[in-house]
Amino acid sequence: MARLALFLISSLSVYSHFILAAAAAPAGTSTYTNFVKSSCSAVQYPALCVQSLAVYASTIKQSPRQLAQTALAVSLARANSTRDFVARATKFRGLKAREYAAIKDCLEEMDDGLDQLAKSGKELKRAAASKGQDFRWHMSNVQTWVSAVLTDTSTCLDGYASAALDGRLKTSIRSRVLNVEQVTSNALALINRYASKP
Ligand SMILES: *[C@@H]1O[C@H](CO)[C@@H](O)[C@H](O)[C@H]1NC(C)=O
Repeated sequence: MARLALFLISSLSVYSHFILAAAAAPAGTSTYTNFVKSSCSAVQYPALCVQSLAVYASTIKQSPRQLAQTALAVSLARANSTRDFVARATKFRGLKAREYAAIKDCLEEMDDGLDQLAKSGKELKRAAASKGQDFRWHMSNVQTWVSAVLTDTSTCLDGYASAALDGRLKTSIRSRVLNVEQVTSNALALINRYASKP
């Protein structure tokens, strides 16, 4: 138990440092910040959207392409650290067979999600460099692959919800996977908007 507590505390503090650092960073000029805020007002988790993207306002400027790319990069970074967390959780001693199986399944989903996000990032760049039908083709691939990530995260959440995991470990994995799901849902909304550009 002590090892589990230590594991959770150390992971949690790395995670909250990440959030605090993001919240404390300068947000760029107000025009750019307002662009992020107004774009975020149309997504499913607007507060999280602003919280995770406003720090990049000066890079995003007023570009729907930069906004979509940045949102996807945030999703990739969070999926990566969550995948890492879940991988470390499978190595935790004292897991019951059922718990181990549920976490292992979740790890497979997160691995798949990470692949989808990595190839989506490349595809989004290809889209940005193309026009007309090519643009729409690349964007539809991105939309398909990013949607698949949402299936991965919800499969993970459903799978271990029923597996009677240790309470704290369960909460801890759940909150991270949910965060990935929410930033990814936001990224998809911003990608959809960029895809429908005139
Ligand atoms: C995930 O993060 C590690 C560093 O922790 C990095 O080496 C790796 O390239 C990242 N993977 C992706 C797909 O971004």
